[in-house]
Amino acid sequence: MCGITGYIGTRKAYPIVINGLRRLEYRGYDSAGVMVFDGSKMNLIKTKGKVSDLELIANKDPQKKEGNIAIGHTRWATHGVPNDVNSHPHFSQSGDLVIVHNGIIENYDTIKKELVSRGYKFHSDTDTEVLVNLIEEVKKQNNCKLGKAVQLALNQVTGAYAIAVFDRTKPNEIIVARLGSPIAIGVGKNNEEFFIASDASPFIEFTKDAIYLEDEEMAIIKLGRDIRVRKIHDDTIVNASTQELQLSLEQIEKGGYDHFMIKEIHEQPKAITDTYRGRMLADQGIIRMAGVDDNIEKFLNAERIIIVACGTSWHAGLVGEYLLEDMARIPVEVEYASEFRYRNPIITPKDIVIAISQSGETADTLAAIKLAKSKGAFVFGICNVVGSSIARETMAGAYTHAGPEIGVASTKAFTTQITVLTLISLKLAKAKGTLSNSAFHMYLQKMQLIPAKVKKLLQIDEKVKEIAKVYKDAKNCLYLGRGFNFPVALEGALKLKEISYIHAEGYPAAEMKHGPIALIDENMPIFVIATNKGHYEKVVSNIQEIKSRSGKIIAIVTEGDVTVKEIADHVIEIPETEEALTPLLTTIPFQLLSYHIAVMLGKNVDQPRNLAKSVTVE
Ligand code: AGP
Repeated sequence: MCGITGYIGTRKAYPIVINGLRRLEYRGYDSAGVMVFDGSKMNLIKTKGKVSDLELIANKDPQKKEGNIAIGHTRWATHGVPNDVNSHPHFSQSGDLVIVHNGIIENYDTIKKELVSRGYKFHSDTDTEVLVNLIEEVKKQNNCKLGKAVQLALNQVTGAYAIAVFDRTKPNEIIVARLGSPIAIGVGKNNEEFFIASDASPFIEFTKDAIYLEDEEMAIIKLGRDIRVRKIHDDTIVNASTQELQLSLEQIEKGGYDHFMIKEIHEQPKAITDTYRGRMLADQGIIRMAGVDDNIEKFLNAERIIIVACGTSWHAGLVGEYLLEDMARIPVEVEYASEFRYRNPIITPKDIVIAISQSGETADTLAAIKLAKSKGAFVFGICNVVGSSIARETMAGAYTHAGPEIGVASTKAFTTQITVLTLISLKLAKAKGTLSNSAFHMYLQKMQLIPAKVKKLLQIDEKVKEIAKVYKDAKNCLYLGRGFNFPVALEGALKLKEISYIHAEGYPAAEMKHGPIALIDENMPIFVIATNKGHYEKVVSNIQEIKSRSGKIIAIVTEGDVTVKEIADHVIEIPETEEALTPLLTTIPFQLLSYHIAVMLGKNVDQPRNLAKSVTVE
């Protein structure tokens, strides 16, 4: 959490860095800062608030924006409240060194005490100020160059970091390093300029050549010279290869929409198609997926599949449990990565662990993967971000190909993760013979129709807006679903909570009677999924129970429904499909509803309070 960016070269550095920070704001947005080196002085501008607040301050003093070297930061606070002083960049005591940092230094307190005893004074509450002073102290003690000092200092810290460090006395280089937090370096023509960022989005209009540091690597970025990468812990020289970026500028802009979230909701027909393109050959009755094909024996012999993930990805994992067990008859457990990693789980080499993550950077999921690998399990990843840490850490996997998801609230990540899980389930079901040939072909045909159905469903936007108007002032909401749609109820509640700050809970519809029903009165909106093939009669009974306690029912039903229409206060129809595929449709109205409620309440939809897009700290 936190975005870092930097530039060293011949262009004006401030606009590049500030623009980069805007693109990285999804990573954290409680404070922002930039240091611009003007050739002799390091000018620091930083503030609590968003990058736009930083720009307002910077515009008052244009002289401070002049220079060809800059580093910047957008923060999600870990140590120290969000305020001007705790914002990055941080200077060392002498004022020669400056740092930006994404991550946590866990042993900062011990190091701080040691530095204080040596006369260092601290101005902020951050672990980052401790790190930059440690580097300064190590540099002084060892009388070494900045690169060596960074390396020696990092060998004394525990925790996670992506850092960029600059020394004003050696103004032709920036040192970067990573452990647990991502960092990409954009390489300009003839090494005349370099870009640094938490992901490649800040520099795609300048260069397509990028080097991604691996964990425990650091790089010395020096103008006019090839980048030198080495291991932090044992000094090994690393032959880092340059990758060609596939990202386009258009993909990371709003394209006429008011918010990224609504753009991404509307991108789902294409995103789902992109996910199965080249993998699902419906007419030939084939599903190809290299990560599964290459390891098919492991999948077929697996005694159990354990899915690990967090948040929305965990909800997709729950849908995966229903799909895999129903179709492929493999026992599945779905675990919160944060619990799994610390509860001494039983994992054997006969288990397959599937890790799901949009960003591919979620710290808990990454740790769960490492644990599973250490116990001998085969670990398969489902990620969106190409080249992300989780994509690299897993032994095989499948990308969702959803394109960049920038809105903090996950939308297209969810539906594309479910798409991958559906393909895997169908593929394994076919290989195991647990699904008849005709059922397999039927699913492929119906799956192919999903993008068009999502597109049609998106036309209900106006109707959802009307419903949003009625319920936007609710204080509490319930979301109910059964079977494949129970996880969608959880996801619907999460979407509402995270962007509108309305309290919402998801439950399996039948669980109502075991407690939550006590909450129902005439002020409680209850969103119920009642698709025609999914325990329909049972859900209708659950709806009746709510109605007789005066709850307000907003039901998601299948086109042509008659029964629920008579009871519910509002209905939203989804196109007909197989029940196993309905989560790809039922989730759409919930996404739209949360979006419209949040907009009507004047909330910051793409950057909800206290949140960040990728949670790279535990
Ligand atoms: C959901 O809208 C959130 N963005 C959050 O729950 C997210 O799904 C979770 O943090 C996991 O992120 P990941 O998929 O990038 O691992």
